[in-house]
This record gives sequence, structure tokens and C-alpha cells, in this order.
Amino acid sequence: MILNETYTLPNGLAIPKIGLGTWLIPDDKAAAAVCSALEAGYKHIDTAQAYGNERGVGEGIKKSGIPRNQIFLTTKVAAERKTYQEAADSIDESLRKLDCGPADLIIIHCPQPWAEFRGKKRYFQENKEVWKALEDAYMAGKVKSIGVSNFLIDDLLNILEDCRIKPMVNQILLHIGETPSSLVAFCKQNDIIVEAYSPIAHGAALKNEDLATMAAKYGATIPQLCIQYTLQLGTVSLPKSSNPEHIRSNAQLGFTISPEDMAILENTGQDYGEDSRWPVFSRRKQL
Ligand SMILES: NC(=O)c1ccc[n+]([C@@H]2O[C@H](COP(=O)([O-])OP(=O)(O)OC[C@H]3O[C@@H](n4cnc5c(N)ncnc54)[C@H](OP(=O)(O)O)[C@@H]3O)[C@@H](O)[C@H]2O)c1
Repeated sequence: MILNETYTLPNGLAIPKIGLGTWLIPDDKAAAAVCSALEAGYKHIDTAQAYGNERGVGEGIKKSGIPRNQIFLTTKVAAERKTYQEAADSIDESLRKLDCGPADLIIIHCPQPWAEFRGKKRYFQENKEVWKALEDAYMAGKVKSIGVSNFLIDDLLNILEDCRIKPMVNQILLHIGETPSSLVAFCKQNDIIVEAYSPIAHGAALKNEDLATMAAKYGATIPQLCIQYTLQLGTVSLPKSSNPEHIRSNAQLGFTISPEDMAILENTGQDYGEDSRWPVFSRRKQL
């Protein structure tokens, strides 16, 4: 079963291949979604300081009755926190809200504050400072692995040039029609596990008739096709759902997409519709 499969981070820590995304799940609904996922066999939950639901996510983990060491819990330092002290405080604040002991993974949410996403100012020096705070938290045992998110190749090179601990993960926008292949290859060459966020294109994939036709060919739903696509690229998949039936079915994957279809899917376009208002979808172009 896919929910029991893991990749191995460079420090030997196992990271489950599928995790529940929790963006836009309100704090008072997060515990129920997390409990549904853990009940369905998920062992990996992805949250962030910016989602405002760390308290609820932590509550769900504690309520589930599943031993903490069987769950991989990720959170993120808010994109706007760009000094050492702000990042260190952010980590402590997240751990306090989650109230679940050390986190399994903490990542820098974005190389730039969201208001300047993919803008001219690259925050290279600031990200080195934030990275130091993550390294110190790792060495202090507050977190078991550390990484980044939305980092492009030059953002990664900036950290790699003088870090004490290399980023173990890069969580990036990756789904059918949005596959940054050179970034994925760079991460692989540098032992950085790629996590695919918005694997269902934030829901936009659900309306795509070509995807419906291909999914039917495999006896799958569109979300299952989308999630399987990200897994076949060797990435962690982070589908979000707060619907228990969706949560369950998203992990029922018993098929393999053919190499020919993988190539077609890599070149399918996506229209994010009204969700283009989010910087992750409207300013996704690689620099
Ligand atoms: N690092 C970053 O900057 C970043 C950015 C974006 C996302 N993320 C992470 O990635 C996670 C996933 O991305 P996302 O939230 O953008 O979107 P997503 O997982 O691509 O899509 C979620 C949407 O698909 C629907 N859905 C899921 N399974 C379904 C099913 N089986 N049938 C019908 N509809 C289904 C959900 O609705 P229901 O809830 O009703 O099922 C929701 O509307 C986030 O939650 C977050 O953890 C990280």
C-alpha cells in the first residue's frame, strides 16, 4: 500500500511518499481532517505557520491515538520572516502551537515574502540567515530534518555554497502541466527530495476533460491520476482534502501510468481560473 511507502532523506530519516496537505483548512476543521487522514492510513501531514491551523493539526495528531513517532509532521517558517531571530522565534512558535514534540521537517516557506514572489529582490543574504536558524534548530533537536520550498536553482545554490547542513527537501509547485524538470533534476543531483505541492492543480485538474478520459483508461479518478503522476516522477505528493472520502480514495492507487502517457501529461496545460489570484499560481514562471 502506497501509504506505507517512504523515501529516505540524506540523514536517514524516512519520509512517507504521500502526505495530507492542509492549506485553507481552517484551524477548527483541521483536527477532523487530520484524524480522517490518519484513520485512512496516512502517516504524513503538511502544515505551515501561514496556514493558521497548526494548533488544529496538532490536536488531530494527539486525538488520533496514533503514536507520534509513526507520523511525519511538516511545518514551514513564514515567507515574510527573513532574519535569524524572526525565523528562530517562528520555529519555537510553531512547535508551541503544534504541541507534538519535535517536528519531523521544517522548511522555509518561500525565498521571498509572498508580496514579492518571483520579484527582482532575491533575499539571498536573508535566506542564509533563516537557514542558520533552521540548522541551529536541527542541531538543538527541535526538528528532525530541514528544507526549503519554492526555491529555484539559484536560491538553492545560494544556501549550498556555505551551509553546515544541506537542504534535505524542496517543496515545489508540481503537477500535470506544471513540471519544472530542470529544477527536479538539479534537486535529485544534490540529494534533495522534491515534494510536489498542489498535485491536483489546486482543484483545476478536476475540470479537465482530457484528464478525465485518461483517468478512465486506468480505471482511476482524476485526483488519483494526478497523484500517481507526481509519484512516478519520484516526488512526495501532498494532496489536500478535508473530505474523508476524497482523503481515502486519493491514496487508493493500484495502477502505473505508461511512459507515453507520462510524456503527454508533462505537456498538458493548466488554467487555474479564479485561483490565479494566489502568487503560487499566477507568478509560477521559473527564473
Ligand atoms: N509550499 C507552498 O508554497 C505550498 C503552496 C501550495 C500548496 N502547498 C501544500 O500542498 C497541499 C496541496 O495543494 P493545494 O491545497 O493547493 O491543492 P491540491 O491538493 O492540488 O487540490 C486540492 C483541491 O482538490 C480537491 N480534491 C482533493 N481530492 C479530491 C477528490 N478525490 N475528489 C474531488 N476533489 C478533490 C480539494 O477539495 P476537498 O477538500 O473538497 O476534497 C481541493 O479543492 C497544500 O494543502 C499544502 O499543504 C504548499
